[in-house]
Amino acid sequence: MIIDKKVAIVSGASSGLGEALTNVLVANGATVYGLARNAEKLNTIQKKLGKAFVPVTMDITDPQATIAWVKNTFSDSYIPDILINNAGAGYFSKIDRLSLERWHAMINTNLNGMFYLTTSIVPLMKESENICHIINIGSILGKTNRSATAAYSATKYGVQGFSEALYKELSRHKIKVTCVNPGSIATHFFYDSGILPHPTYLQPKDIAELIVKIIETPDNFLVDEITLRPLIEHSST
Ligand SMILES: NC(=O)c1ccc[n+]([C@@H]2O[C@H](COP(=O)([O-])OP(=O)(O)OC[C@H]3O[C@@H](n4cnc5c(N)ncnc54)[C@H](OP(=O)(O)O)[C@@H]3O)[C@@H](O)[C@H]2O)c1
Repeated sequence: MIIDKKVAIVSGASSGLGEALTNVLVANGATVYGLARNAEKLNTIQKKLGKAFVPVTMDITDPQATIAWVKNTFSDSYIPDILINNAGAGYFSKIDRLSLERWHAMINTNLNGMFYLTTSIVPLMKESENICHIINIGSILGKTNRSATAAYSATKYGVQGFSEALYKELSRHKIKVTCVNPGSIATHFFYDSGILPHPTYLQPKDIAELIVKIIETPDNFLVDEITLRPLIEHSST
């Protein structure tokens, strides 16, 4: 796909990997609809990127709001070419110390939010004359795991399984599906679990640039899954 003049949706665009993806997509000529709950952060990004970035204050765990936004924004004559399901919640703790609230936040964001967006965008993509691409951000913890990550891992194994079945279902409709499974990224993702970014972590910009390369592959070329790790690991992930 040539990204110039294409329309993309990025969930979790207000920080970290989603913000980096937004920057790289806009730099390549796309219009990006960036979804997140923090309006202030989205507006700051909008001031920097201009009208190619459309801030959308949205909690993707709300099915009514998410599905209504898709319905009111897109149509058969305005179809998004790229959907990046990036928004995520992650809390690391021993299973008997994990609150129900945090369990539900991870399930609702990482799985339900991905489902609400995907199920409402796919019917539009099926009508597109262009190749379309759905990128799901999983995790290395959706491929392997370690102690005190059971709940988060459960959601990311889910993202991996969802993505693999989806590419088999949608390839005949010219819709690519890629699951990207990164190791530790230098964001504040695990801040609430007391885990701070380490200098050896992957840089969001590097991952965003790789994802853009995956989107730019020839039409009949699918990267269904990719795993990214720091070469020198800081932690056991
Ligand atoms: N950081 C890592 O080490 C790492 C490793 C592997 C995979 N990942 C995955 O990478 C993705 C991006 O994470 P990150 O590291 O960039 O973390 P981040 O900086 O904390 O970004 C998470 C983004 O998700 C948004 N978000 C969270 N809940 C949301 C909701 N209910 N509705 C809408 N947006 C929501 C946040 O925005 P608001 O708070 O404004 O809503 C934020 O923009 C996640 O899927 C994560 O699981 C991260």
